This record gives sequence, C-alpha cells and structure tokens, in this order.
Amino acid sequence: MTKVAIVTGGAGGIGQAINRRLVAEGYTVVAGDLAAAIAQDDPTATGIHAVEMDVRDQPSVDAAVARAVSLGTLRGVVNCAGLVRFTPVREAGEDEMDILWRVNVAGMARVNKACAEHLGESAAIVNIASLTGLIGRLTGASMYGASKAGVMAYTRYLACELAPAVRVNCLAPGYIAVPMSASMRAVSGGEEALIPTVPLRRLGTVDEMADSVEFLLSDRAAYITGTTLVADGGVTAL
Ligand SMILES: NC(=O)c1ccc[n+]([C@@H]2O[C@H](COP(=O)([O-])OP(=O)(O)OC[C@H]3O[C@@H](n4cnc5c(N)ncnc54)[C@H](O)[C@@H]3O)[C@@H](O)[C@H]2O)c1
Repeated sequence: MTKVAIVTGGAGGIGQAINRRLVAEGYTVVAGDLAAAIAQDDPTATGIHAVEMDVRDQPSVDAAVARAVSLGTLRGVVNCAGLVRFTPVREAGEDEMDILWRVNVAGMARVNKACAEHLGESAAIVNIASLTGLIGRLTGASMYGASKAGVMAYTRYLACELAPAVRVNCLAPGYIAVPMSASMRAVSGGEEALIPTVPLRRLGTVDEMADSVEFLLSDRAAYITGTTLVADGGVTAL
C-alpha cells in the first residue's frame, strides 16, 4: 500500500526540502500551500502533489486531507506552514498577534485534527516549531516565539491523546538558510548578526531539517513521542 505524507507549507523553503526527502524514502507527498506560494515555487515533481490549502480554512484543509487519503495510507503529517513576524513588543499590533495565532497555532491544530481520524498504527506527526519558542533574547520574536511555544505545548497534549498508535513530535529549527523575512532581517540584523551567536558558526540547511523530520516520522524514532528535537547549532545550549 502506498504510504502518503501531507506537508503543509510545502512550497516553502524548508517544506520543499521535506517533500524531496520524504519522496526519497518512498512516500507519496501531498504538499499543501497557499496558491500564490505554489505558483511562485512550484513544488511539483515526481511523487509530489501540490494542492492549494490555507490552514486557516477548514474546507481547504479537508480537501487536502481527502486528496492524501485517496492516494494511499496516511503515514506522515508535517505541519510546516508558518508565518514569521518580528516586531518589538511595544510596536506589536492586534493584527499581527491574531494572524500568528491563526496560522501557526490554530492552523496547525486544524490540520492535525483533520488528519487524526485517518492515522493508524506506525503513523507519525511532526510539527515545526522554532528555537524562538525556547529563548527570550531575540528582540522582536515575542509573538512568533509564543506561537511556536504553543506548537510545542499542543504537540505534547496531542502525543498523549493519540498514543499508543500515533507518535507526535516537534522539530525546532534554529536559524536556517532560507530567504529571511524582511521583518526578521530588520529587527535581528540579518545573518551577519546571528551567525556569531551560533556555537556551530553557521546557519542550518533545509536538507538538515528535512533529515530530522524524516527521522522523527520513521520507525527509527519508534520510542520518541511528545517531545521537541532542537536543531539549532547549539544556540539554546548557550
Ligand atoms: N527559516 C528558519 O530559519 C526557521 C526557523 C525556525 C522555524 N521555522 C519554521 O519552519 C517553517 C517553514 O519555514 P520556512 O523558513 O521554510 O519559511 P517559508 O516562508 O519559506 O515557508 C512557509 C510556508 O508556509 C506557507 N503558509 C503561510 N501561511 C499559510 C497558510 N495560511 N496556509 C498554508 N500555508 C501557509 C507559506 O506560503 C510558505 O510557503 C515555518 O513554520 C517556520 O516558522 C523556520
């Protein structure tokens, strides 16, 4: 039976690397993303089905999940859709607080809920969090970090509710080599300012993130659930 994975944010920098990695491991991948992102990045390739999906919108989530289920057995769910907004605390507005919650937390939960009934023995979920959910010293990341801490908390609860059949974990990337959002660059000072704060003295790669996701989905991680794998070059160790 064909094993299928659904990857939200599948047209994004990390999402596309995850698609490729999972296809290499024999998955058929449904890569869901906003129409504009799919048009710009075109995640389609052999074994990758690009579908329009807004994690804020229940019908589009249901349609993407139905597509995945129609292709085989749903074995993997990767919630990689995410918005980054960097704003110092005194300047953060209601709109930003609202959208970070609706995409990063509620959207991730909506997808997991829609997938849960289709997940059986040996299935696994990976929710993409961020090191910003673990630290407090990155100016501008308060709401984004709070949303990613929310992802980690949700993951623990979901792991307990879906055990023993389904495993649920987070990957918390550090600073990864993808085009940085304008707001993050402006507030953080960009890569030049961040790299000296990383013990391994470099950015992480999208392929390294994809490797970690593939590991967490695989049977090699069969005794790992409800936790967060931090892949940050040592930032949180400092
Ligand atoms: N790049 C980093 O350094 C870094 C670090 C830590 C965590 N992350 C997390 O990794 C994930 C992927 O980030 P990335 O760097 O590849 O960024 P990216 O912007 O390239 O990818 C994010 C994708 O999510 C999609 N998306 C946004 N809103 C959506 C919605 N409502 N419905 C469906 N899709 C939506 C975007 O269109 C985009 O394709 C995100 O969750 C991000 O928060 C990234």
